[in-house]
Order: sequence, then C-alpha cells, then structure tokens
Amino acid sequence: MHERETFRDLLERLRAAGELEDIRDPVDGRHIATLVDQADKALLFHKVVGYGIPVVSGLIRSSKRVAIGLGVERYADIEEKLTCAIMNPIPPVYVETSATREVTRIGDDVDLFDLPVPMSSVLDGGPMITAGVTIVRDGDGLNAGIYRFLLKERNLTGIDIVTPNNLRALAQRAYEAGKPLPISISIGTHMYEFMAAGYRAPMGVDEICIAGGLRGAPVPLSMCETIDVPHIADAEIVLEAEILPTGWMWPEGRFGEFTRLMGGLHWNPLVRIKAISHRRDPIYYALHMPWEVTWLMIPTRWSQLRGALRAAGVQVKDMNVTLGGAGSWHVVLSIRKQSGEGKNALMAALSVGDIKHAVVVDEDIDVYNGLDVEWAIATRVQADRDVFVISGARAKPLDPSLPVMPAGVVPTGAKVGIDATIPEGIPRERYERIAYAYSDVARYGSYKLDPKAAEAGERKPTGAEVAALAARILTLIGEKPLYYTQVIEAFSEMPLQAIARAFGKLHVDEKLWQDAEGRMCVRGSKFAAAVPRR
Ligand SMILES: Cc1cc2nc3c(=O)[nH]c(=O)nc-3n(C[C@H](O)[C@H](O)[C@H](O)COP(=O)(O)O)c2cc1C
Repeated sequence: MHERETFRDLLERLRAAGELEDIRDPVDGRHIATLVDQADKALLFHKVVGYGIPVVSGLIRSSKRVAIGLGVERYADIEEKLTCAIMNPIPPVYVETSATREVTRIGDDVDLFDLPVPMSSVLDGGPMITAGVTIVRDGDGLNAGIYRFLLKERNLTGIDIVTPNNLRALAQRAYEAGKPLPISISIGTHMYEFMAAGYRAPMGVDEICIAGGLRGAPVPLSMCETIDVPHIADAEIVLEAEILPTGWMWPEGRFGEFTRLMGGLHWNPLVRIKAISHRRDPIYYALHMPWEVTWLMIPTRWSQLRGALRAAGVQVKDMNVTLGGAGSWHVVLSIRKQSGEGKNALMAALSVGDIKHAVVVDEDIDVYNGLDVEWAIATRVQADRDVFVISGARAKPLDPSLPVMPAGVVPTGAKVGIDATIPEGIPRERYERIAYAYSDVARYGSYKLDPKAAEAGERKPTGAEVAALAARILTLIGEKPLYYTQVIEAFSEMPLQAIARAFGKLHVDEKLWQDAEGRMCVRGSKFAAAVPRR
C-alpha cells in the first residue's frame, strides 16, 4: 500500500532492499556527513552522542534509492510517473490527528539545539536543516519547496532563498507589505512529498497536489497550531515558523551546494520558529550534499523539458540531463528532426528555467555517450550557424561563474544552444559511417579460413589470368558502377591479389574512373564523374 506510506515505511523499504544500514554504535555529529560520503548505502545512526534523536542521511544519494523510494523499477521510469502526477494532481486530505503532534513545544519552549543537526562541509557557516518540505499558502492553494535553514538561535534561523523561486517571490511580497510569511517545515517526509516539493512548478500550481498524484492518493495534511498553514501529517518533525520581514540582509551560508562547490555567503531573511512538534521517538533526516539534490532534481528537469519540447512540437528520442551539469544546467537531446527543428528544440529546452547549455543531436547519436555527443559536435557544427547565445536570461545565483551582485539583487545569465544535428542542405553521404567489409563472416575469436581457399590464394596469378580478369571487371562496371568491395564480392572465387592486380592493369590501361559516389566505372562512360580539371 504505497499510497499510505510514511517516512518510516520508506526507511523500511530501503532497508529491505539492502540500501539502508543501521549504525548502532555511538557516532559524533561532527562525523556523520563524512561517514555518509564514504558509504554506498544510506546510514541510520541510532545513537548520536548528546542527542536523543537518531539521524538518517543519504536516502536519495543514488538513482537506485530514488527509484525504490518512488516505487518504480528503473530511475528512468520516474519521468513518466512525475509527468502523470503533474497532469493528474490529487488534492490533499486534512486529518485531525497526526503522530507528528505527539510532542509539541511552543514559543519559549522551542529549542532547535535539541535537534541533532549534523555538521556538513568544512567551510559551512553552521548547522543547517537541509531536508524540510516547506509549505506556504499561495492564494487558495499551497506552495511547497525545499530550502535550507541555518540555525542561529534556539528559535531563529536563516532561510536560503537567493534563487528566484516561488517562495522568494512570496517572501518578497510579504516583505514589501511589512508582514511575516507563515511557513511550515516538515522534516522526515516520504519521497513523494520530497520529489514534488523539489519540482519547480509554476506559481499557482500546488505541489502538494502533485505529491498526491505521485502517491496515487491524497497527501494527509494536518494543521499547525500557531500558524494558519498545514504540515505533512506523520512527518517526523515539524517546525511552525514565519519568514520575518527583515529583507535580504542577513548573512547565511556558506554551504556545500548542488554544484559540488562551496557556495558563497548569501543574504537572506530571518525565520522565527514559533513551535516545534514531533513524534515521541522522531528520526531526524539530514540531507547530504550534493548528490541527494542532484538525483532528486534530474527527473524534475526531465518533466519540465518534456513539457516544453512537446509544446514546441519536437519529437524527442532521448534526453540526458547530465550529472556533470549538476543535474540542472545541461541537457543533451536527440530528436527525430524535420528541417529547422534543431534550433526549435534548443529554444524550447533553453526556455526551461535552469537549463543553461543545451545540445541537440540526431537520433543516431547516443545522448548518454559523451564520446558520441562530442563527435556530433565536432562533425556537424559550424559555430557561426549552429551555436547561439542568449544574454540576460534567468539564472541561478549559485552559478559561480556569474558576476558578484549586491545583496538582494538576482543576477541574469547567458544560455547557449548547440545544434549538432546534420545541417540542412548537406549531402547525407557525408555522414556515412565507416563499416568493415565481411563483418558477418569474419568474426574475431572464431575466425577460420576454408583451407582450400587458403591454398588457392597462395598461388600468384599469371599475367594472362590478370588480363582476363581485368576484362571481366571492365564488362561488369561498364553496366553499372560498383564499389571496389562489390567487385571483390562479384569475383569471390578469385584470390584478392588477382583482383588487385587486375585493377592495377585497368589503371595502367587508363580504363578506370569513378562516379560521383566513388564507385568504380569505365573512364569516359556516362557514369564517370565530371571532375574539374586543374
Ligand atoms: C534537497 C534540496 C534542497 C534544496 N535547497 C534549496 C535551497 O536551500 N534554496 C533554494 O532556493 N532552493 C533549494 N532547492 C530547490 C528548490 O526546492 C526547488 O527549486 C523548488 O522547486 C522551489 O520551489 P518554489 O519555486 O515553489 O519556491 C532545493 C532542492 C532540493 C531537492
């Protein structure tokens, strides 16, 4: 019954698949991220020294774990599941009681330092909550996303929303109105809610309904006590909070980002935590950077790209949102191209918010093979015709190559499209690949020549035999031009050397020429290519 699964069921599923290891020996919170980095499984630390709350980390750190979490066979299947959920959202259901509310602390009783928030990267600005599904009201619906919260005081954090996402826009509106913006932060939710929150839906689209679509059932929500915003029922831990109208002026970070780099110091608002509630025996989920973001993000990009390309009427064969592009910035597309569609595909792909560099190739190129893709770029691209740059597009401030901006100013950036499809107007035969003759019979490992053929081939042909063969070849190619290999095949009973010598004689006698495709023909015949003479 996946549709009713909680975070605990998710852990159980990963454990059963051998993807989650229980560590029962005591661990120091300073060592958790480093241990997770070295492990090939998610790790559940039951005893974190100084805290009564276990820590789990690495749940999404491989494509396999994401597939298991979302109940699909292969990682690639997530695209269809997510797209289906986006097209068929299911509204949430509100429940009165939730295990999350077994313990609630309000106001002065809130103490974030009770939470076992581990250390992460060496240059971090402090402990950060990384895996909170954050819900805010947006008109009649809800908006969900995942943002990190730097712990500052017992009941005060920062929130990293330097990126131009929906929560930032809502926070900016509240700031301009001088009002706090209530948010709930659910930590320890199922991957359905996590994936939907990570999906960059347009403003006004309710990601909790998309989570319902992923579950195939309504997401159970429960109301917070101190703010008029719901949280994910049965989450392990919930923070009830307000983004304060303090503006973009409080330092936050640094932090290891999805870019695999240390982000810089960000300027963000403050967040007041008004209440904290949790299960009697909660588990704290510490999201590990960068791969837990990357593996979650890639399918959301697939869905966005597929939608944009479908709207553009482009037939896509394959799509690779690459790991090297941090799962966000690069896409290689192969398309069944009609004239001009290389450029249309690029414009559609680049319209997707975070996509920065897009390459489009023909369907004969394997988008998952870097060698193949580079080869297409090398052999099919003329930069002045096939590469275009768009300036001033929406960018992610986490892109370290962008200029440094004043606090609160979101930079714009450039996008590049590379059309590595076979250009219009270029003869197709320029792209005929090398293929070796007799590949059906000459098999390395099992190659054995017929002894009689081997013996016959040893005898050197006489001059008369060569002349007779040359005459036969001339008759044959007089009827129809043939490739050298086809001539050899037509005289397969003859040794290769005899045929080579016969061709030699025809060259000496000035009988040979080639047609426009490079086939052998008779000099001066109607097939002979007209080559400009120097
Ligand atoms: C694990 C994870 C952590 C993330 N952390 C942040 C973050 O700290 N700040 C941010 O702006 N976006 C972060 N994101 C990306 C946003 O959650 C994502 O873009 C989301 O769709 C934004 O939603 P919104 O446009 O509704 O605000 C994170 C994504 C994931 C998957």
